[in-house]
Amino acid sequence: MASLNGATVFVTGANGGLGTAFVEAALERGADRVYAGARTEKKWGDARVVSLQLDMADPASIDRAAGQAGDTTILVNNAAIFPRGDLLSAPIDDITTTIETNLTGPIRLTRALAPALRSANGALVNVNSVLSWFAVGKAHSVSKAGLWMATNAFRLEFASDGVQVLGVYPGPTDTPMQPGEDRSGMSKPSDVVASVFDALEAGEYEVLLDEMTKKVQAALSQPISALYPTLASR
Ligand SMILES: NC(=O)c1ccc[n+]([C@@H]2O[C@H](COP(=O)([O-])OP(=O)(O)OC[C@H]3O[C@@H](n4cnc5c(N)ncnc54)[C@H](OP(=O)(O)O)[C@@H]3O)[C@@H](O)[C@H]2O)c1
Repeated sequence: MASLNGATVFVTGANGGLGTAFVEAALERGADRVYAGARTEKKWGDARVVSLQLDMADPASIDRAAGQAGDTTILVNNAAIFPRGDLLSAPIDDITTTIETNLTGPIRLTRALAPALRSANGALVNVNSVLSWFAVGKAHSVSKAGLWMATNAFRLEFASDGVQVLGVYPGPTDTPMQPGEDRSGMSKPSDVVASVFDALEAGEYEVLLDEMTKKVQAALSQPISALYPTLASR
């Protein structure tokens, strides 16, 4: 099981709500170095943080960043976008960019850093979502369902190399990704990240962060109308 103490942690989407919490918590738990991957580099005020320019929708950017982070022992695939348009009517580029950023990008980065993770007996943390199992997020849900399955496939492929793979399933969390004024009922990013790192250090495969997420996952074994009640009225 992975330990943050002495680790070299690579966090994508490091400037975001959960990303910033991942960087800060990794430092608090004793990481030697944190690569903060972001579209816009910024100063972190801690010598252990190395800013890396990273666009998850750009394969060349992913290869470049991975090339600068060959000593990574824990990769946190956290970056994502959430455009709200319908699958049937949004510009198709919005759909493909969502899948490229949220699914293909993390697969590319994981492949690029796989030698590092293998040689460290390290860990992969994929930030999936309750929307991996619930279609209301449209293209975002499609991408997160794909990342759920990619997480499971990576776990099988890495098993013989001693690389731990943790799938993370948050529900609504108080970050810029959530629109609107009403923040009640949302998890705090620092609480989510504390649970994620506790699960990682305990050797878990998955962490479901809240009751909503647990209910949605449980409903997958029910008829489809359990998750989508409007279908029951037909
Ligand atoms: N908030 C929730 O309710 C919730 C629930 C379940 C799962 N999640 C998941 O949690 C993760 C973190 O999201 P968050 O809630 O912290 O949202 P956030 O604050 O919007 O952070 C998302 C980060 O991803 C980065 N990003 C977007 N496109 C990128 C690209 N092409 N290349 C590199 N970075 C890119 C953004 O960069 P910029 O700073 O450059 O925009 C931003 O820093 C996501 O995977 C999200 O799906 C969130």
